[in-house]
Amino acid sequence: VAWTDFERATIKDIFSKIDYEVVGPAAISRCLIVYPWTQRYFAGFGNLYNAAAITSNPKVAAHGKVVMQGLEKAVKNMDNIKATFTELSTLHSEKLQVDPDNFMVGNAELMVLHPINCVDVESHAFFVVLQLLGDCLAIVVASQLGKDFSPEVHAAFQKFLAVVVSSLRRQYY
Ligand code: HEM
Repeated sequence: VAWTDFERATIKDIFSKIDYEVVGPAAISRCLIVYPWTQRYFAGFGNLYNAAAITSNPKVAAHGKVVMQGLEKAVKNMDNIKATFTELSTLHSEKLQVDPDNFMVGNAELMVLHPINCVDVESHAFFVVLQLLGDCLAIVVASQLGKDFSPEVHAAFQKFLAVVVSSLRRQYY
């Protein structure tokens, strides 16, 4: 991936401005609330019964921070995101493949919504959730940055997310 100076500066700037403790939990909560079937991946989080339960669940908040720390690694290694995420991609693949509790997503429904070719249904379901989480992250970051989230900044952030998503998918192939 080739980054322009503007993109590099913008990604670093975004991550210096956002508060991980706010953005991470808000992005995951948003994903779990807006796409409730994604909750099936996080059976271990306990009470996800409604929006209030999700936003006040300490495990959701903690995991939100963990995801942001993962993203920070990508920010610090922008020229090497794929290699940086090799281990993390494997971990997701293994964690999510071996734990059927995490994996019983409404797959048939997902396949209809997003009919793309993929190695198998489980991987496909993960790819969909990954994309949705990325979308939620973009919305939360936009709401945090306000006017600073210009179309150019948005484009740079989407590109960054696309590289992150493809790097996390990598070990599934
Ligand atoms: C764990 C990052 C998306 C499910 C983790 C960990 C990190 C991380 C850093 C902790 C790894 C460790 O313990 O060494 C990310 C990033 C994501 C992302 C940066 C995307 C931007 C997802 C998605 C799912 C998911 C989409 C589910 C569909 C999990 C699960 C764990 C985990 C189940 C293990 C939790 C545990 O056992 O404590 N992730 N993740 N992640 N992630 Fe993700």
